Amino acid sequence: MAVDTILVTAASGNIGTRLIPLLLSTLPSTRLILPTSSAAKLAKYASNSRISIEEGSIKDPYWLGQLFVTHSVSTVFLNLTGTDELFTTMNALDSFQRSGTVKHLVYVSGAGDWTSPAGIKTLITRHTAGHVLMKTIVEQKLQHGGFPFSWTVLGPTLFFDNDLSFPDFLQSSLYDIPLGSKGISRVSCADIALAGVKAVEDRGKTLGGKKITIGSLHKYTDADTAALWSKALGREVHVRPADEEGWEAFEAATVARAGKVWGRDIALMYRVFSEDGWGMTEEEYAFQVQVLGKEPDRYEDGVIQMANGEVKKADKRYA
Ligand SMILES: NC(=O)c1ccc[n+]([C@@H]2O[C@H](COP(=O)([O-])OP(=O)(O)OC[C@H]3O[C@@H](n4cnc5c(N)ncnc54)[C@H](OP(=O)(O)O)[C@@H]3O)[C@@H](O)[C@H]2O)c1
Repeated sequence: MAVDTILVTAASGNIGTRLIPLLLSTLPSTRLILPTSSAAKLAKYASNSRISIEEGSIKDPYWLGQLFVTHSVSTVFLNLTGTDELFTTMNALDSFQRSGTVKHLVYVSGAGDWTSPAGIKTLITRHTAGHVLMKTIVEQKLQHGGFPFSWTVLGPTLFFDNDLSFPDFLQSSLYDIPLGSKGISRVSCADIALAGVKAVEDRGKTLGGKKITIGSLHKYTDADTAALWSKALGREVHVRPADEEGWEAFEAATVARAGKVWGRDIALMYRVFSEDGWGMTEEEYAFQVQVLGKEPDRYEDGVIQMANGEVKKADKRYA
């Protein structure tokens, strides 16, 4: 049986940290190519004969394109982030096409209908955050681009791990993100990784051209979140109020941590989630359970694990 070569981006990130061990254990006849800006971040895989760590810039389309050819990459797990996410993604899609070797792509987007006329209208009307809006362009490009490879889109909701975005949170009584009262679905990165493995394994046979929305059906409000964290930490935790003062403070803290461009973008995104809520339909939920072969992880359990220090936030450049 031919060895399948899978290129995975952001292997040191929140999803990648869970995805790489799962790919190695679930798909024994595969090789993994891991592009990274810093090989030191992936040092724990350095002696694994099934893994090639490639140091360079994911933003360089010539370097990335050469990796596909050199390693005869057949499958790509594409997880990109940052203020240049649109350019990097489009150049990557073009490189897959040029390579002639890529047969299947799994692309990390976000939950939501971002390709029907009604879905696009809602997204464009409500959102201004560039890193959210660009994903509708990518999803439409996949649908209409006539690519010579199959693709599956993953649509996660809000990661459990985002609760650890502010380093001092576990020692404080303030949950920094103004979540608001409409409610937001939450997802474990382990479930995103599991959906990723299923989509890689499927290679477009049954999941090709589909979006798998991943997360809870329940949408957690600020009050839900405060209650869960208060119980888990054994002290009263307040969620920052979703009022002007709360937004100003949240944005200032995010800018201090992630810079002005990314900080503003993240704040713009959370404002819409707080005002509109964010989640999934019952049909999307049922499809997810079918793909995962289980119910998604519970945020209630995730909060306890994070409070107990069992989850470490991945080394992240962005919020
Ligand atoms: N966080 C959420 O709640 C959430 C919800 C829904 C969707 N999403 C989407 O999920 C994706 C993953 O987000 P994340 O924040 O969790 O990422 P992450 O897994 O922490 O990945 C960060 C790593 O990705 C690599 N990378 C990818 N694209 C890059 C670029 N253009 N420039 C520089 N480095 C890049 C870098 O790794 P190296 O340094 O090793 O090169 C970086 O350290 C994003 O597209 C995000 O919009 C996130």
